[in-house]
Amino acid sequence: MKEAKVASMKIFMFAPVYRKDSLNKKLIRLAHEYVESLPGYEAELREFNDFKMPLYDGDIEVNEGIPQGILELAEKIKAADAIIFSSPEYNGGIPGVFKNAIDWLSRMNPVPVEGKQFFLMTATPGSLAGARGNHHTRWPLQILFAHVYPKYFGVPRADQAFDENGKFKDKKHEAQMQKLLLEFLTYASRKETPFDNLDVFIEEQKHSHPSQH
Ligand SMILES: Cc1cc2nc3c(=O)[nH]c(=O)nc-3n(C[C@H](O)[C@H](O)[C@H](O)COP(=O)(O)O)c2cc1C
Repeated sequence: MKEAKVASMKIFMFAPVYRKDSLNKKLIRLAHEYVESLPGYEAELREFNDFKMPLYDGDIEVNEGIPQGILELAEKIKAADAIIFSSPEYNGGIPGVFKNAIDWLSRMNPVPVEGKQFFLMTATPGSLAGARGNHHTRWPLQILFAHVYPKYFGVPRADQAFDENGKFKDKKHEAQMQKLLLEFLTYASRKETPFDNLDVFIEEQKHSHPSQH
């Protein structure tokens, strides 16, 4: 069931991976095609390779400042109402290239991901659909007060999942992806999330039950 959406929400999409034939790039392209097909969304898909950045180094930060690629990535994130990304799982966790980008972003003030809505997708040739990396990948974003949607979309055996045109061979994958994306977008389009104003809520609770604090 579709809910009313805010006029033209801006969605920024990327796969934090460099490999040309990346399965996650295939997945985010399909997600982008779907989001673009929905009325009321303006979805921009960018190659992570476009955002050039060195490994985080405090000396580079002091002497040269935040790298240009990170400033550009930050602009895209800041301008977006929601961010959808498809990340591989490396050794049960977040790939170093993505963690590196988050580490650079976290050195900006304000931190661009703070308060932003994120949706995580993942494609892997393995059978667990990125279930282990899901926890680890969302963690640094959440530490920075981003809201990462509790559900994620993972494609297991993704090396077999796409046809020569990059479409899902199994329509069940397509249906599940579309269902979750729509659910996330509907959630993200709400003006207030359960986590907005959490600090105000906690303060109010202290004053209403002073003895418990
Ligand atoms: C360093 C490294 C670690 C990996 N660890 C995992 C893993 O923990 N779980 C998994 O399912 N696949 C793992 N893989 C396999 C990746 O899922 C696979 O290479 C995938 O194609 C990478 O995503 P991409 O196609 O978008 O580049 C690993 C691959 C590499 C290079």
